[in-house]
Amino acid sequence: MSKTQKQTLAKTAATGPPGSPATRSPGAGTAGGTGVSRRRLLGTAGAAGATGLVLGAAGGAAGYAATRPEETAALTTVGATEAMFHGKHQPGITTPLQARGHLVAFDLAAGAGRKEAAALLRRWSAVAKELMAGRPAAGGPDGPGHDTGIALDAGPSSLTVTFGFGRTFFARTGLTARLPAALDPLPAFSADALDAGRSNGDLWVQIGADDALVAFHALRALQREVADTARVRWQMNGFNRTPGATARPMTARNLMGQIDGTGNPKPSEEDFDRRVFVPASPGKPQEWMEGGSYAVVRRIRMLLDDWEKLPVDRQERVIGRRKADGAPLSGGTETTEMDLDKAGPDGRLVIPDNAHARISSPEKNGGAAMLRRPFSYHDGIAEDGAPDAGLLFICWQADPFRGFVPVQRKLDRGDALSPFLRHEASGVFAVPGGAAEGEYVGQRLLES
Ligand code: HEM
Repeated sequence: MSKTQKQTLAKTAATGPPGSPATRSPGAGTAGGTGVSRRRLLGTAGAAGATGLVLGAAGGAAGYAATRPEETAALTTVGATEAMFHGKHQPGITTPLQARGHLVAFDLAAGAGRKEAAALLRRWSAVAKELMAGRPAAGGPDGPGHDTGIALDAGPSSLTVTFGFGRTFFARTGLTARLPAALDPLPAFSADALDAGRSNGDLWVQIGADDALVAFHALRALQREVADTARVRWQMNGFNRTPGATARPMTARNLMGQIDGTGNPKPSEEDFDRRVFVPASPGKPQEWMEGGSYAVVRRIRMLLDDWEKLPVDRQERVIGRRKADGAPLSGGTETTEMDLDKAGPDGRLVIPDNAHARISSPEKNGGAAMLRRPFSYHDGIAEDGAPDAGLLFICWQADPFRGFVPVQRKLDRGDALSPFLRHEASGVFAVPGGAAEGEYVGQRLLES
């Protein structure tokens, strides 16, 4: 890539949890480094066959671009941004929110146990690593070279693949001695209307990318690797705003129109790691979870017909923040701290007693916090004639019983937002730490 092309690539807009160290954007000089894009690689393969593939990978993008001028046009920032597969933590937790997401849960097939699960995680990890680098899914059940082609021409597009284990996985693989207490079933909440068929699961995969085709390509490639080892239990598809759609990087909005994510813990905060990631516990049964995190996944339908009937000032009191800019009703800008004690001229609290942001704030929950990293969803019109739409709420924490559970208990008792929501599906997954170079995700559990 030429210097001029590099200069034209702007910095990635951070649309979610900021400060991910595990992404590299082309501004940092990555697209011309070892990360050979799928577009360049396949172009090379087309011209030179298998040898070209190897050369393309080893020689790097610069060498390839020099020989094929028609392929030298720079990918956009969106296409060229690459998240790292290897690292202390799995990707897709602190990675900025992506525009497209797929969540899929699998149950192991009858007769599949620990050995088959280990082989699957090994194959999945190999595929995820290739795809996240923008390379084709070489391998697969049909052998090398049988990539579906769905993501041809696109770069990595911030693709992340994150793997997790559900509670039921441990009994099926004879690993109950390693089952963490953090995977105890969640308590029932009064507002739950859960569909068991779309809840939980032995294995969970979260896919995110800033391009819909790249995300779907990853979904297909990973499903193909499963073969007879497992069957899909449920799948959900979501989306967020596309990077670059706003004039400057902004916190995302949800389908109720609210700025959503402001109060999230920030990676720059001192206690971020302690809140989100599992610490080392040498010699303990959950030792394998070091550097991992627990994902609570809730499909929360928004009753949009009811919500949209509320005037904006009432909607704002439901949350405790202004709709236009996310500023707390107590004043300031989006990032100003909420003043929970401030009263108006009428003596009433400016941020009402039952406002969602008040009730869920760490201040009101003994410090309980979680990293919310959701996708919106819309699956058409439901049988009741209203949009089947809402939030694939995903929150990350070191322990769901110190993050999600106390906060949801409290919201369940008297949150002003709850009448506009219906929790339709639920799952909790142990997401192990990131794989080291040469390792596959979950190896420390499966080979312990
Ligand atoms: C569809 C469902 C939900 C919607 C639309 C929603 C929306 C919002 C909005 C607009 C905010 C204020 C801006 C922000 O800080 O992000 C907020 C804050 C928050 N929400 Fe939710 N929320 C939902 C469900 C939940 C659930 C199920 C939980 C956890 C059990 C939760 C926990 C929180 C927390 C911890 C905050 C930050 C509070 C603070 O630190 O100030 N939310 N939510």
